[in-house]
Amino acid sequence: MAAFGTVFTPEMSISRFTNNSWSAPELVASGSISLHPGAHVLHYSSTCFEGLKAFRHADGSIHLFRMDKNVARLAQSSELLSLPKIDGAMLSQMITDIVRRFATDVPNPPGSMYIRPTHIGTEASIGKAAAPSLESLLYVLLSPVGDYFSGGAKPLRLLLEDNARCASHMGMVKSGGNYASALQPIMKARAAVQADQVLFCPNGDVQETGAANFLLIDGNEIITKALDSSFLHGVTRDSILTLARDRGMTVSERELTVDELLERAAKPGAEAALSGTAAVLTPVGTLIHAGKEYQVGSGQGGSTTNALRQALNDIQWGKAADTHGWLTKVC
Ligand SMILES: Cc1ncc(COP(=O)(O)O)c(C=O)c1O
Repeated sequence: MAAFGTVFTPEMSISRFTNNSWSAPELVASGSISLHPGAHVLHYSSTCFEGLKAFRHADGSIHLFRMDKNVARLAQSSELLSLPKIDGAMLSQMITDIVRRFATDVPNPPGSMYIRPTHIGTEASIGKAAAPSLESLLYVLLSPVGDYFSGGAKPLRLLLEDNARCASHMGMVKSGGNYASALQPIMKARAAVQADQVLFCPNGDVQETGAANFLLIDGNEIITKALDSSFLHGVTRDSILTLARDRGMTVSERELTVDELLERAAKPGAEAALSGTAAVLTPVGTLIHAGKEYQVGSGQGGSTTNALRQALNDIQWGKAADTHGWLTKVC
C-alpha cells in the first residue's frame, strides 16, 4: 500500500458558495483546483476539513461510518472560522455520491476509503485579515488507504510536551493552522527522542496528540479528557467510549494530569492508546517526560486496547451488529 493519503481517486465532488448560495455539486477531475493568488484561505487560513471512512463488507456492500458526526463537525468548524454556512444534507449527498461512484476502489479490510471533505475561503481579497471570506469552495476528496501507522499496531513512543497544540479556543476546529502550529514540536520530538508523536499537556493537562485523542486504561476504567474547546472532539473517541460502556467499563471523562498519568501508567496492567479515524486505536508503549522514559504497563499495548479496537473494526467491517446505527449503506 502507498503511504497514507497519497493516492486519490481521479474525480472529486465540488460545490462553490457565491452570491449567498451553493452551486449544484459536480464531479470534476481531482488533480487540480483553480484559486486566485489573493484567495482568503491562502493568506488568512480560512480552511477546515474532515476525515471519515467508508468500509467494504464481506458481501461487497459499502458503508460510511458515522458520517453525520463528521458533517456536523465540519459545520461547526466552518461556523467557528466564519466561513459560509455549509448545507449538511448537500454535503452528505456529495459524500455518498462520490463514494458510490468509486465503490469498486474501496479496499478490502484492513484497508478502507478515506474521505476528506474540505471547506476553504476563496474570496480574492488580501484586505480581509479581520473579515470573513464571502465565497468558498467545498470539495470531497477520496483516498484508498491501508493502515495509518505504517508499523501497524506497534506501541508508540509519545513525548509529553508542556505547551499547547494550538490556541485554546481553536482546538475543536479541524483547521490547517492547528496542524501547522504542532509541526515544529513534533519534528523536534522525532529528532531528539525518536518519539512517534507528541502528547500536548499544557500546564500539566493531558490533552491530545497532533492527530489523535489520548485514552488511559487502568483496569476496568478508561480515562480521557472531558470535552472542552481546547482539543478536537474525536468521533473515534466517542465510539470507543460508547463501546467501553457497552462492555461495562467505567468511563471517566475528566481532567487528567501528567502526574496522575505517569503514576497510573506505571501499574503492571495499565494501557494507553491513541484514537482517531486514521489511528483507529493504537497502543502507546512509552511516555517520555522531562528527560525520562516511562513504560506504560507491559510496554507492549494490552488486551483491552486490542479488544476495543477489534470491537470497533468488527462493526465497521460488518462482522458485528451495528447496534448504535453508526453505518450508512452506500451501495
Ligand atoms: C488533532 C486531532 N485530534 C483528534 C483526532 C481524532 O478525531 P476522529 O476520531 O474524529 O478522527 C484527530 C483526527 O482526525 C485530530 O486531527
